[in-house]
Amino acid sequence: MAQRVALYPGSFDPLTNGHLDILSRARRLADRVVMAIVENDSKEPLFSVEERSEMIREIVGDDPALPIRSFSGLLVDFAQEVEATLIVRGLRAVSDYEYELQMALMNRRLAPGIETVFLMAKEEYSYVSSRLVKEVAKLKGDVTGLVPNSVRIRLQQRF
Ligand code: PNS
Repeated sequence: MAQRVALYPGSFDPLTNGHLDILSRARRLADRVVMAIVENDSKEPLFSVEERSEMIREIVGDDPALPIRSFSGLLVDFAQEVEATLIVRGLRAVSDYEYELQMALMNRRLAPGIETVFLMAKEEYSYVSSRLVKEVAKLKGDVTGLVPNSVRIRLQQRF
């Protein structure tokens, strides 16, 4: 039987516990969830794609059901390359909705066969974003519990 492949794209700069929560939920929807780190990120990332990939691998391990890739160009082209029929995005507050809706509709126009699904992380992560985590870590605040321990250590080292 054909395997259901989901694509979980993002900047993951860095990976948070919210991302991991979404990943575990996505895992229930698909046989394989490809985590895809965007390469051409205009947000001036703190960590290189290699570092981000390493951080994810440290947590996720070498599970064939959870490959870690990076991509440039259109998300839907990459989705087609890895034969994904689902794009998974985490949805937190209402403020995420507008941007996510625009992306989902644009992606659907570009590739009608690929469905975007939105998943909600546990409430305790509903305010957690990579951007805020970086800001808190930079200002020497404690991010314990918001990111995996290995990510917390890397953030400390970086700042
Ligand atoms: O974690 P992020 O930064 O919110 O992820 C955004 C991402 C990587 C999903 C988005 O920027 C993206 O899909 N980039 C690829 C370029 C693309 O396909 N653009 C058109 C989408 S409407």
